Parts: sequence; C-alpha cells; structure tokens
Amino acid sequence: MAHKVFNVQEYPHPELLPTYPKVDYDPHVELKVQDKGLLADPQMKSLLGAATKVDRLTPDIGTEIQGVDIRHLTDAQKNELALLAAQRGVVVFRDQPATIYDMVELAKYFGPLHIHSTTGIPKDPALNGVHIVWNDGTKPFDRINYDRANGWHSDQTYEINTPGLTSLKVITNPESGGDTLWCSAYAVLSSFSPHFQRYLESLSALHSSDKQKAQAIEKGVYIRRPQTDCIHPVVRVHPVTGMKALFVNSGYTRRIVGVPKAESDAILNFLFAQIAQCNEYQVRVRWGDNTICFWDNRCVFHSATFDYFPTKRHGLRATPVGERPMSVEEYEKTTGKASLDWYKEKMRALGEDVDDEEPKAVSKIAGAD
Ligand code: SIN
Repeated sequence: MAHKVFNVQEYPHPELLPTYPKVDYDPHVELKVQDKGLLADPQMKSLLGAATKVDRLTPDIGTEIQGVDIRHLTDAQKNELALLAAQRGVVVFRDQPATIYDMVELAKYFGPLHIHSTTGIPKDPALNGVHIVWNDGTKPFDRINYDRANGWHSDQTYEINTPGLTSLKVITNPESGGDTLWCSAYAVLSSFSPHFQRYLESLSALHSSDKQKAQAIEKGVYIRRPQTDCIHPVVRVHPVTGMKALFVNSGYTRRIVGVPKAESDAILNFLFAQIAQCNEYQVRVRWGDNTICFWDNRCVFHSATFDYFPTKRHGLRATPVGERPMSVEEYEKTTGKASLDWYKEKMRALGEDVDDEEPKAVSKIAGAD
C-alpha cells in the first residue's frame, strides 16, 4: 500500500519534532526528592479558590480545573496541585497557552526532570528533559504487532527515582481520537482481599528498560544510557497521601523476585488484567487544543489510544522524578505513621464504618444486564 509522505515544511512545529542525538548520559544515581505536596494547605484554597469551576471527572479519579492559567501559579498553588494530583491521580486544565518551556520550568519545581535514554527529544538542549509523543499520521497502526496487553503503564518505573507529577500537552491533536486513559493504583490495590494485599506488600518486582532499548535498536536509534533494571516494592506508599498503591505495570515490570516464575507470571498477569479491567477506577480524557494534563505516576497507570490514523498526534511531556519507591514497611518505619488503605479512607470520608464490615455471603452472579 502506498502511504502519504510527511512534509516537514508544512508542519507548524518543526523545532519540536523528535531528534535522537548521539550523546552519552551517565547512569542514574539515587536522588533525594522532597515532595512539594507535603507543603500544601490540605484545603487547597489557593488553587481551588482561584478556579472558576472544579469538576470531579469520576468519583474516584480525575479532576478538571477551569479558570486557572498554569503559567502564573504561585508556589502555594503549585504545592496544592501536587497534593491534588496525589489525591485524585489526574488534574486536567483546558485552554492553556503555556509552551513547553513554561511546562519545563514548572516541572522543575516538583523535582529533577527525567532525561530519557531512547525516545525522541527536541533539538534545543534546554529541552532534553522533554519526552515527545509523535505520530506523523502517514501509516495505519500496526494491528498485527500491536501488543495491547503492554499498553497500561506508569512512566519509566525501571529508574531508581521513578517519575512523579508529570505533565503532557498534545500540541497537534486529531479532531477525535487519541484519548488517554488513567487508572487509580490506590483503588486497584484496595479492591483485593486483605490477605492478598498483605502478600503483595511483602513482594518486590524487577522493572526493566529492556523492551524500550530493543525497540530503539530496531529503529536504529542511538542508546544514550545503558539499559536500566531496578527492583521496587510491588506496593509503594505515596509520601504525601500515605496511601498504598499497586506498583507493577505491563509496560516495564518483568517479574516478581524470589518466587517461582510460574507464580510470578500468574500474579503479574492477574494484576495487569485488573488494571485494564477496573473501569470504575479509570478516567478517559479527550484532549483539546491547549489541554494540559498532570498526573502523578506514583498512584496512577495510563494508556494511550491508537485510533486516529490518518491524522497526526504530537505531545510534549515534562516528567519530574519523585522519591525512590517506598515499601509499606519502609514508609511505616521511617515516618512512624501507618500507611492507609484507599477504600477505607473513602468510606470514612463518607461516614461509613468499614472496619466492622461483615464478610459477605457469595452474591448472586453479577455481570452485564
Ligand atoms: C505517555 O505514555 O506518557 C503518553 C500518553 C499519551 O500519548 O496519551
């Protein structure tokens, strides 16, 4: 089949197209990152009070804020944005004139930027911490090789300091399609039985950049940093909310360590399927011109939608890193606080007593009506 050709001369943002410089970055070392959400007013009055509208996109994940220009946030509002994202997972702002330079400046307030080892970056070295999402719309999606099972992920979990409060602006949008979905990692974990949660809390898993490296090699792209492999707890605690979150994903988690491979495969496949299937804990956002979404990679997973051929899609992501993931044991030992269960906190806020919940009899079969 003859395909269209992308004409860079006709494209309005040529300077923001991906480049793959032949540079060598040093391997990462652990960084101490103090979360800005810890400095926030718990009522979030500066940020929410400045909004003309605050819309909870679903009960459990996603908030849309109108009437706030992210270029002019005060430090108090930035701290509250970090807290809101830690609680709600995703925060959507519409009609934002902010450029990628503004986004990078804001991102650096939250933590050092993640500099990717293989994906395309803009030509300007000042933007080497920007991750580019780019599809030139000339070829239909590869339906044979597309691995849907590996779509849900949180960003670069193979690093020592994994990404925190991330922002993305899609600067060239299909008229419809290319939506992004997010899923709450607090809620998925909390949906399991207490025994299974305790078991997961005792485990660690290996995360790897191996597939990204292999894809880069296949495309002839220069690898700017050697492959990174890291072992992280299967359940991490968010330092701001104190809530437990499931921390494995089909994009980068390869196996649970210290258990037989068959057990690791069965558990990971179950967890990956739960992330993809929990639609009550997901939010789907349709991008518009000048939409910027912020999400906290420590407590949500996300997945892109590849349905927009033959149009182009061009996104720019600024990704500050957070702390090295903390297990439940480490969090409780270092802070002296008990980690929290998302569902119990939600029910408490609603005035329901979940501690006394009786074990339920097996219900009649539920499903599609
Ligand atoms: C990402 O995976 O970070 C980008 C998501 C998207 O392109 O919608």
